[in-house]
Amino acid sequence: MLSGIQPTAGSFHLGNYLGALRQWVALQDTHEAFYCVVDLHAITVEQDPKVLRQNTRVSAAQLLALGIDPDRATLFVQSHVPEHTQLAWVMQCLTGFGEASRMTQFKDKSARQEAQVGVGLFTYPILQAADILLYQAHHVPVGEDQRQHLELTRDLAQRFNTRYGKTFRLPEPHIVKDTAKIYDLQDPTSKMSKSVPAGVVELLEDPKKSAKKIRSAVTDTGREIVYDPAAKAGVSNLLVIYSALTGRSVESLVADYEGKGYGDLKKDLGEVFTEFVTPVRAKVAEYLADTAELDKVLARGAERARAVASKTLARAYDRIGFLPTG
Ligand code: TYM
Repeated sequence: MLSGIQPTAGSFHLGNYLGALRQWVALQDTHEAFYCVVDLHAITVEQDPKVLRQNTRVSAAQLLALGIDPDRATLFVQSHVPEHTQLAWVMQCLTGFGEASRMTQFKDKSARQEAQVGVGLFTYPILQAADILLYQAHHVPVGEDQRQHLELTRDLAQRFNTRYGKTFRLPEPHIVKDTAKIYDLQDPTSKMSKSVPAGVVELLEDPKKSAKKIRSAVTDTGREIVYDPAAKAGVSNLLVIYSALTGRSVESLVADYEGKGYGDLKKDLGEVFTEFVTPVRAKVAEYLADTAELDKVLARGAERARAVASKTLARAYDRIGFLPTG
């Protein structure tokens, strides 16, 4: 199992948590798990060095606070394991220009970006393929928006295996249907995303602010609380979030809210979220209060990750025909 998250934003949002991180926490009990803060991916857009360093620690602290246990899972920072960039180069040489051009995330991101679009943004999914293939991951827990990158990863693994002999396992995306795409609270037809931040609920913002965002979430003009994503996208999104945070089924929530209004649902969800996030925020603050210890945890993770990644890279280099270093 391998997955990664960008440190760019500082605070993770509810989409990150429900779409991916919740699964990371659950799967560390049943799988050998590698979880990576992808700082190399972050520099595909311009970063302030101080902010990047801080955000990388804040990201690691959030993962720990959400329940990643560094004794059970290997938690590390991508740039600490140079094999990622080394395998990425190999994979770039196997990727068609047209193939990379078809990545919808690249098309979206490059269309939105005002500054010059770098080649790194273009090759971003290939680095992601290297992240996954280095650990021979069987499963990759992600949200729906990563599906196309996972398909590219499988294509590249297959291509390498066909050309050089079986070396890489073809990974499967692990996407939990109900929470695969959490929508923006102000625009419930678009994915919740920091790049369009209107209705994004952040884990590290003041929960009062989150509760207010939830109260002012866009819903339709009707009154009835029913789950109908096509006709009632806003209400349905709130029900999905509520259900995921409480473990209660959407049906039982709908039954409970019969005869009540949107305002009741929103107010209660604000409280549910506050209850969930308050202890998480306290733990993040604790981890960040001792950055020396946090850095040690990440250094240990990097050492364990490298032990696996270096073996895979050595095998791949050998298959390609690179001379051994002696
Ligand atoms: P990133 O950092 O954008 O997002 C981290 C995870 O959160 C999921 N996610 C969502 N899920 C549901 N609803 C949403 N609104 C939502 N927004 C984000 C993402 O699907 C992701 O799982 N390219 C990756 C990082 C990466 C990676 C990897 C992932 C780099 N290497 C290797 C897996 C394996 C990304 O930008 O995720």
